[in-house]
Amino acid sequence: MNKLDFITEELVKLKEAGLLINIRTIEGPQGAWITVDGKKVFNLCSNNYLGFANNPHLKSAAQKAIEEYGVGPAAVRTIAGTTTLHKELERKLALFKGAESTISFQSGFCANLAVIPAIVREGDTVFSDELNHASIIDGCRLSKAKIVRYEHCNPADLQAKISDEKRGRRMLIITDGVFSMEGDIAPLPEIVRIAETFGAITMVDDAHGEGVLGRGGRGIADHFNLHGKVGIEVGTLSKAFSVVGGYIAGNKRLTEYLAQRGRPFLFSSAVTAADVAACIAAVDTLVASDALVRQLWENTVFYQEKMKQAGFNLGQTKTPITPVIIGDAKIAREFSQRLFDEGIFAQAIGYPTVPIGKARIRVMLSAAHGRDDLAWAAGRFEKIGKVLGIL
Ligand SMILES: Cc1ncc(COP(=O)(O)O)c(C=O)c1O
Repeated sequence: MNKLDFITEELVKLKEAGLLINIRTIEGPQGAWITVDGKKVFNLCSNNYLGFANNPHLKSAAQKAIEEYGVGPAAVRTIAGTTTLHKELERKLALFKGAESTISFQSGFCANLAVIPAIVREGDTVFSDELNHASIIDGCRLSKAKIVRYEHCNPADLQAKISDEKRGRRMLIITDGVFSMEGDIAPLPEIVRIAETFGAITMVDDAHGEGVLGRGGRGIADHFNLHGKVGIEVGTLSKAFSVVGGYIAGNKRLTEYLAQRGRPFLFSSAVTAADVAACIAAVDTLVASDALVRQLWENTVFYQEKMKQAGFNLGQTKTPITPVIIGDAKIAREFSQRLFDEGIFAQAIGYPTVPIGKARIRVMLSAAHGRDDLAWAAGRFEKIGKVLGIL
């Protein structure tokens, strides 16, 4: 027997449970309407909040950067991979976020893997919201610190758990800013208060907050007016910025330290000049105008109202992330397939991305969506919801 035969059994089990992910192929650029597996569909599942993925300014910045810097860095940041563009992006991101300094990474996932083990280690304790993103969970595991999970968005539970902790340990509280599968917002002011009371460091992952929350999309710290109160902010350049990359914002000592100790910074090649230049153009666009952020919110209110009127359960969302809760993973898959047949691309999400029994269609709204299309899509959801007995 082949030692890898167990994989076949695992795949069969996933299929039977309705958990086998159907990976579709996109043909062409991201946008409101895209071609998927040969079919033109209305796109409701990309993180392209502001339509930057195919924005002409970002594209021409990337093209110019390729002419000036070539296609690849051919080095990690600490050896020969740091260009003037990387430095410019980090300077502009710091100004945008109202932070003293930033350091960029290859992705948000890498940023979490870099920062958490650099800050805590064996003998320290991390308090982590139970619905935190997988990259936070993996960063915590890599650190070997003790991990204490607190109830989702529940400051009272966090306070109870931190009160029980032995004194003398370094303590780090970590939360997603906007929860990627729920769309709700972390109670950051309470978390900061608890951190101050117990001498803990606060870390927030603002992946789905920047470009969305705060003035002109400056993120969750700006939304709650907590500038300077959050020790570590994590960002991605792959959601609202719609390029690729991640970063940490904080004080200068933190970013200097991560340049020495953040392992993905030291041991994995730098992001390409084209990506970095496109990110700079995204920051410049957001600094120049908040029109796209306002458009995103107008679309969000419009679509979510229509879905609520139809009777869908959208959970606790407070942001453009719109979970259409279905429960059973197989029904969620069937719902997604029927949407696709009708010309709507909205993927079903099941375990392990969300807990078992909490499968959903996660709709991601964008400034690029048109009103008529959103109204039409809500109508299709309602029709299928009735057919499948969800409504
Ligand atoms: C909260 C959160 N953090 C980090 C990430 C990872 O970001 P990236 O795609 O840039 O690696 C994601 C993406 O899904 C996320 O939702």
